[in-house]
Amino acid sequence: MMRVLLPILTAWATLFLIPATAQVQAQAQESAPAQAPVPIGNEACKTCHVPYASHKVNIYHSDCLACHTPEAKHLAEGGKGTMAFPTADNCLACHQHNDQGRMNWAFTEHKKARLDCRNCHGIHSPKIKEINIGMWKTDRNSALCISCHKDVAARLTMPSHHPVLEGALSCVSCHDPHNSKTASLVSKTEQCTKCHQNVRGPKVFEHAPAAEDCMICHNPHGSPNRRLLQLAQPMQCLQCHSVASNMHGNPPRGAQLRGCTNCHSAVHGSQSDPTLKY
Ligand code: HEC
Ligand code: HEC
Ligand code: HEC
Ligand code: HEC
Ligand code: HEC
Ligand code: HEC
Ligand code: HEC
Ligand code: HEC
Ligand code: HEC
Ligand code: HEC
Repeated sequence: MMRVLLPILTAWATLFLIPATAQVQAQAQESAPAQAPVPIGNEACKTCHVPYASHKVNIYHSDCLACHTPEAKHLAEGGKGTMAFPTADNCLACHQHNDQGRMNWAFTEHKKARLDCRNCHGIHSPKIKEINIGMWKTDRNSALCISCHKDVAARLTMPSHHPVLEGALSCVSCHDPHNSKTASLVSKTEQCTKCHQNVRGPKVFEHAPAAEDCMICHNPHGSPNRRLLQLAQPMQCLQCHSVASNMHGNPPRGAQLRGCTNCHSAVHGSQSDPTLKY
C-alpha cells in the first residue's frame, strides 16, 4: 500500500509542501516563528530515536527509510500511528541483486513457513544475544537455528553425532537458510563428500546406495547407533541383503551377523574388490 502511496505523496509534497514551506518562511519573517513541518528523513528519525543516531550498523544500512515505511502521523505526533517493520520485499529490493543468485528466497522452506528476514536478522541488535547457549561451544549461526529447531539439537546430543554443539561444524556448513530445500541440499551426497573426501567416488566397484544418497544409511545430525547409522548393524545391511548364500556359512554364524563391515569394510565402494572387502 505505502509503496504505491509513496510516489504519490512525494509528488504531492513537491506540488504543495515546497510552496507551503516558502510561505511558512515568509510568515516567519513577518511574525513569531511558526512550527516548521518535520521533514521526513533520517535526521528526523534520529532526533527522537537517539540511540540509533550513534548505533553501530552496517554503513549500507544507515538509511532508515530504506527499511521502515514512515507514516506522517508517527513523525508529527511522536510515536503514534504505525511504523511498519521491514518485510522481505524491503530487504530484497537491495539483496536480490548483490547476493550472487544465492537469494532464492521465493522458493525457500523458510518463506513457505512464513518466516521473514527479521526473524533471523535483528539489524539493530543481533537476535542471538537473547539465546542462552549455556555450555555449548556452537557458533552463533547454529545457536540461532537451534532456537527454533530444537529437535535437531536433541539429535546432536545422541551418542553418535556431527560435532555441531562442539563447534567443529555449523548448520550452515550443510544448509543455506535462504535457499530452497533442494537447492540448499543440492545432491546431498555432494554436501557430505566435500568434507569426507575419502568416501568420494567414482569407484571401480560402486556400492549402489553410497553412490546414490548417504542418508540411506546415515542420519545427518545424530543417531543412537555408531557412525551415525540409521539402523544398528547388521540390520542396516539386511534391509537390502540376505546372507543366505554359502559364502557366509550355512546357516550364517554370529560373527557374520555381528558386523558386516568387519569383512566388507569398503562399504562406500571399492577400487579393487567387487564384494567390497577392501
Ligand atoms: C536494513 C534495514 C533497516 C534499517 C536501514 C533501519 N532499520 Fe530499524 N529495524 C529493522 C528491523 C528488521 C527491525 C525489527 C527488529 C526485530 O524484529 O527484532 C527494526 C526495528 C526498529 C525499531 C524498533 C525497536 C527495535 O530496536 O527493535 C526502531 C525504533 C527502529 N528500527 C528505528 C530505526 C531508525 C531510527 C533507523 C535509521 C537510523 C533504522 N531503524 C534503520 C530494520 C532496519
Ligand atoms: C517525534 C518523535 C519521533 C520521531 C520523529 C520518530 N519516531 Fe519512531 N517512535 C517514537 C516513539 C515515542 C515510539 C514508541 C516508543 C518506542 O517504542 O520507542 C516510536 C516507535 C518507533 C518504531 C517501533 C514501532 C513498533 O511498532 O514497535 C519504529 C520502527 C520507529 N519508531 C521508527 C522511526 C523512523 C524510521 C523514524 C523516521 C522516519 C521515526 N521513527 C521518527 C518517536 C518518534
Ligand atoms: C538500501 C539497500 C539495502 C537494504 C534495503 C537492505 N540492505 Fe542489507 N546490505 C546492503 C548492502 C549494500 C550490504 C553490504 C554488502 C553485502 O554484504 O551484501 C548489506 C549487508 C547486509 C548483511 C551482511 C551484514 C554484515 O555485517 O556482513 C545482512 C545480514 C543484511 N544486509 C541483511 C539485510 C536485511 C535483513 C534487510 C531488511 C531488513 C536488509 N539487509 C536491507 C544493502 C541493503
Ligand atoms: C532462518 C534464518 C534466516 C532467514 C529467515 C534469513 N536469513 Fe540471512 N542469514 C542467516 C544466517 C545464519 C546467515 C549467515 C550465513 C553464513 O554465514 O553462511 C545469513 C546471512 C545473510 C547475509 C550475508 C551475506 C550472505 O549471503 O552470506 C545477507 C545479506 C542476508 N542473510 C540477507 C537476508 C535477507 C534479505 C533475508 C530475507 C529475504 C534473510 N537473510 C533471511 C539466516 C537467515
Ligand atoms: C524463527 C524460527 C526459525 C529459525 C531461526 C530457523 N528456522 Fe528453519 N524452519 C523453521 C520453520 C517454521 C520451518 C518449516 C518446517 C518445519 O516446521 O520444520 C523450517 C524449515 C527448515 C528446513 C526444512 C525442513 C524440512 O522439513 O525439510 C531446514 C533444512 C531448516 N529450516 C534449517 C534451518 C537452519 C540451518 C537455520 C539456521 C540458519 C534455521 N533453519 C533457522 C523455523 C526456523
Ligand atoms: C553434516 C551436514 C548437516 C549439518 C551439520 C546439519 N544438517 Fe540438517 N540436514 C542435513 C541433511 C543432508 C538433511 C536431509 C536429510 C534427508 O533428506 O534425509 C537435513 C535435514 C534437516 C532438517 C529437515 C528434517 C529433519 O529434521 O531431518 C532440518 C530442520 C535441519 N536439517 C536443520 C538443521 C539444523 C538446525 C542444524 C544445526 C543445528 C543442521 N540441520 C545441521 C545435513 C546437515
Ligand atoms: C563441514 C564438514 C562436514 C560435512 C559437510 C559433513 N561432515 Fe561428517 N563429519 C565431519 C566432522 C568434523 C566429523 C567428526 C570427525 C571426528 O569426530 O573425528 C564428522 C563425522 C562423520 C561420521 C562419523 C561419526 C562417528 O560417530 O564417528 C559420519 C558417518 C559422517 N560424518 C557422515 C557424514 C554425512 C552422511 C554427511 C552428509 C550429510 C557429512 N558427514 C557431512 C564433518 C563434516
Ligand atoms: C550402505 C550403507 C552406507 C551408505 C549408503 C553410506 N555409508 Fe558411510 N558408513 C556405513 C557404515 C556401515 C559405516 C561404519 C563402518 C565401520 O563399521 O567402521 C560407515 C562409516 C562412515 C564414516 C566414518 C568412517 C570413515 O570411513 O571415515 C563416514 C565419514 C561415512 N560413512 C560417510 C559416508 C558418506 C559421505 C556417504 C555418502 C557418500 C556414506 N557414508 C554412505 C554405511 C554407509
Ligand atoms: C538400500 C539398499 C542397500 C543397503 C542398505 C545396503 N546395500 Fe549393499 N548393495 C545394494 C545394491 C543395490 C548392490 C548392488 C547389487 C548388484 O549389483 O547385484 C549392493 C552390493 C553390495 C555388495 C557387493 C556384492 C554384490 O552382490 O554385488 C556387498 C558386499 C554389499 N552390498 C554389502 C553391503 C553391506 C555390508 C551393507 C551394510 C553396511 C549394505 N550392503 C547395505 C544395496 C544395498
Ligand atoms: C567373516 C567375514 C564376513 C562377514 C562378517 C560378512 N561377509 Fe559378506 N561375504 C564374505 C565373503 C568372504 C564373501 C564372498 C566374497 C567373494 O566371493 O570373494 C561375501 C559375500 C557377500 C555378498 C555378495 C555375494 C552374495 O551373497 O550375494 C554380499 C551381498 C554380502 N557378503 C553381504 C554381507 C552382509 C549383509 C553381511 C552382514 C550381515 C556380511 N556380508 C557379513 C564375508 C563376510
